[in-house]
Amino acid sequence: MTSIVPEKYLETLSGKAAHLFSFSDGNRYAVKCKNNFHGTRELVNEFVVARLGQLLSLPVVPFEIVNMSEEQIQQIPKTFSSRYKPGSQFASLFINNCTGLAKKPPHPAIKEVKNPHDLAGILVFDYWVYGADRTKSNILLERLPDGQYGIHMIDHGKCFPGGYKWNAETLQKTKKFKKDSVVHIWTAGMLEDLKIISSYIEQIVSLPEASIEEVIRDIPMDWDVSRKDKEALFTYLIERKKTLADSVYTFLKKYMN
Ligand SMILES: Nc1ncnc2c1ncn2[C@@H]1O[C@H](COP(=O)(O)OP(=O)(O)O)[C@@H](O)[C@H]1O
Ligand SMILES: [Mg+2]
Repeated sequence: MTSIVPEKYLETLSGKAAHLFSFSDGNRYAVKCKNNFHGTRELVNEFVVARLGQLLSLPVVPFEIVNMSEEQIQQIPKTFSSRYKPGSQFASLFINNCTGLAKKPPHPAIKEVKNPHDLAGILVFDYWVYGADRTKSNILLERLPDGQYGIHMIDHGKCFPGGYKWNAETLQKTKKFKKDSVVHIWTAGMLEDLKIISSYIEQIVSLPEASIEEVIRDIPMDWDVSRKDKEALFTYLIERKKTLADSVYTFLKKYMN
C-alpha cells in the first residue's frame, strides 16, 4: 500500500466506474472503488493484469493501491459511492493529452507510433490474460511533443474468462473472443514480421511460476479472493500458456497483410 492520499474529488470519467482525484503527490489518479457496480473483482483484474504487464515491460499506466476512508469516498457523488466500501482501492495515474483509437480507419501508421513493438506485446498479452475488452477506449494514444503517439494500456477490469464475475469454474471455460478488437486488428495490419510476436510469446511462456504466484499473493486481502479462486487463477495463467501461440497465430492469419 502506498502513502499517497486522495485530496480532492474532481470528476467521474466516462463509463462511470473510474473517478478522478487529485492526490497528495500532486498528481491526478483515476480511482476504481471496492464494491462498484461491476464488483470488486474489477479491481482484482486491474491489479493482477497491471502487475503481469509490468513483468513483461508493457506500457501499463503507473498505478497504486490506495487506502480510502469512508469520508474520502463520500466526496464521490452518492449515486456511485453509496455502494462503495472503504479500504484498498485501485488508482491509475491519469495521463494527459490522450485520446483513444478512432472507431474507424485511417489509424496512425507505424511511423507515427513511438513504441510500436509494445502494440505487438499488448496483442499477445491480451490473448494470455483473456483481455477481450481491448476496445478503442482501452488504449491511450498520448500526443508527444515530437508529434508521435505514445501508447498506454488501461482498463483491465474485464480480463480472464468470466470477466467481472470470474471464479474457479468460469476460468476453465476459455472460449474464443466474441469480437475481434479494433486495437488488435490495427496492430496486425502494421506487423512487418512475426519475430516480435514470437519473442513476446516466448517471454510469456518462460515467465517463472514464482513471479506469477507473487502477483497473486499480493492481491489486497480486503478484495475477498478466496484461496480456491487464487489457485484457479494461477492454474489458468499456466495452462493458457500452452494454447497461447495457437490463438495468437489464428488471429494474425486473419488480419496480417
Ligand atoms: N489513467 C488514465 N489516464 C487517462 N485517462 C484515463 C485513465 N484511466 C481512465 N481514463 C479515461 O477514462 C475512461 C474510463 O476508464 P476505464 O478504466 O476504461 O473504465 P471503464 O471500466 O469504465 O471502461 C477511459 O476510457 C479513459 O478515457
Ligand atoms: Mg474502459
